[in-house]
Amino acid sequence: MRPLVILPSILASDFAQLGAEVQAVVEAGADMIHIDVMDGHFVPNITFGPDVVRAIRPVTDRMFDTHLMISPADPYLEAFAKAGSDRITVHAEAGPHLHRSLQAIRALGKRAGVALNPGTSETAIAHVLDMVDLVLVMTVNPGFGGQKFLASQLDKIRAVKAMIAGREIEIEVDGGITAETAAQVAVAGANYLVAGSSVFKGGAKAYAANIAAIREAAMRARGEKA
Ligand code: DX5
Ligand code: ZN
Repeated sequence: MRPLVILPSILASDFAQLGAEVQAVVEAGADMIHIDVMDGHFVPNITFGPDVVRAIRPVTDRMFDTHLMISPADPYLEAFAKAGSDRITVHAEAGPHLHRSLQAIRALGKRAGVALNPGTSETAIAHVLDMVDLVLVMTVNPGFGGQKFLASQLDKIRAVKAMIAGREIEIEVDGGITAETAAQVAVAGANYLVAGSSVFKGGAKAYAANIAAIREAAMRARGEKA
């Protein structure tokens, strides 16, 4: 079993206080920070680019897990790497040359991830498993926070787990993760849990309890002592 990691998604934070929000979730127990980049083309929403990543980089030394929901992604990989992303995840659906995108991320000295939309089969990434450090199984259609978890993706998590067959690859889930769904995805085999609304609800004083609830539910489901 690979280590359990909780990654708050700053998409659900107060953008007017972005640096303080990152600091607050780190103090509340975030293992890494998940950064959602959207282009209004690959997904129907727009968020932020490399300059925002650079602006929050000095706030923490926790890893920045950068989820690129942009197409094309290749022209921007270097900018995100230089801005301070530690892992860069591209969507399998974002371009015609997935293997080349992953090669480019690794050539920049960064960890590489590949994401699958709910409608994409795990077979789309069978040819790149030696090129990735992480597989992201989207548990909502990407573009917005606060959507309902798609239980149909549990089978895909199990299939990815079987496919990676002992390789050192993390299985990440993103979308609709709460204490309740965290237990389900952990049992299916996910060990990197991204959570936006369920972490940032209730204001900064609630963040530690929110993160702990997700972590403890997943740990119990994995048979670990919470
Ligand atoms: C959705 C983003 C997610 C989003 C998840 O497109 O990739 O990271 O922040 O938000 P919640 O946890 O609220 O579903
Ligand atoms: Zn995301």
